[in-house]
Amino acid sequence: MSVDVSSALGVFDSGVGGLTVVRALRELLPNESIIYLGDTARVPYGSKSPDTIRRFATEDTQFLLNRQVKAVVVACNTATAHALPDLQRSFRVPIIGVVEPGVEATLEASDCERVGIIGTAGTIRSCAYQHAIAMRRPDVRVEAIATPLLVPFIEEGWLDHPALKSVLREYLKPMLAKGIDTLVLGCTHYPLLVPMLKRLLGGKVRLVDSASTCAAHTKRCLEEHCLLRTSRTKPTLEIHLTDYSEQFENLAHRFLGADFGKIKKAQL
Ligand code: DGL
Repeated sequence: MSVDVSSALGVFDSGVGGLTVVRALRELLPNESIIYLGDTARVPYGSKSPDTIRRFATEDTQFLLNRQVKAVVVACNTATAHALPDLQRSFRVPIIGVVEPGVEATLEASDCERVGIIGTAGTIRSCAYQHAIAMRRPDVRVEAIATPLLVPFIEEGWLDHPALKSVLREYLKPMLAKGIDTLVLGCTHYPLLVPMLKRLLGGKVRLVDSASTCAAHTKRCLEEHCLLRTSRTKPTLEIHLTDYSEQFENLAHRFLGADFGKIKKAQL
C-alpha cells in the first residue's frame, strides 16, 4: 500500500469518546485531515470479551485503511489494551494507542504516589495500566476499578445529570478512602466528565487523561515516518458512524466546535 502524506489520519473508538483524542489532535496537528470512525452500533466495547474486541478493532482499522489513511490512532483504551499488538502486526501503517501515553502523563508528576485508575471492565481486567505503571514505577500504589456505568451516561449526553453524580460518588468512594493523589481516566469517554469530576473532587486529586499525550505521540510518530502533511489547503474532518445517533451529533458539535459536514453511515 502506498502511503501519501496528504492522506488523513484515521481515528476510531466505539463511540463518542475518541472525539476527546480528535480534539487534542486538532489542537496539536491543525494541518492534518482526520477520518473518525465511531462504532456506535456496537458500543460499549468495555463489556465484550478480548476476542470480540480484537475482531471489532481489526474491522475498524480495515475500514479506515480502505479510506487510505496514513496512520491509525486507536482512540479507545479497551481496544488498545486488547488489540494494539495484533493491529501493529497485521497492518503496515503506524498504529498508535492510548494506554502508553496515559501512563506517561500519569508518571509525569514525580510526586504521584497513590494512583486510582477508572476504566471499562475490559481495560481494568487486561491490567494494561497496572502493568505499565508497575514496570516504570514499582513504588507507586495503584487502585484500579471498573466503572462500566459511565459510558452509557456519556453516550446519552447526560454529563450533568444528578444520577451520574451519585454513580461517580459510589465509584470513587473506596479510592478516595485510600487517599489517591491522582486519578487516571482510563477510558477516552471520561474526559467528558471532567467538569463533574472537578466539582466532586474539588482539586484534591490530579486528573489525568491520555488525549494530549496521545496527540504528542502521534505527532512524533508522523515526524519519524516523514508523514506530516505539508499542503496548506484546509484540512478536513469526516465522521463515520456505524449507527447514526442524534446525541452523538449534538455532543460532537458541542465538544469539537468544528465543522465536520454530514455524518456518514459506516458499513464495516
Ligand atoms: N472509549 C472507550 C475506551 O476508552 C470504550 C468505551 C466502551 O465502548 O466501553 O475504553
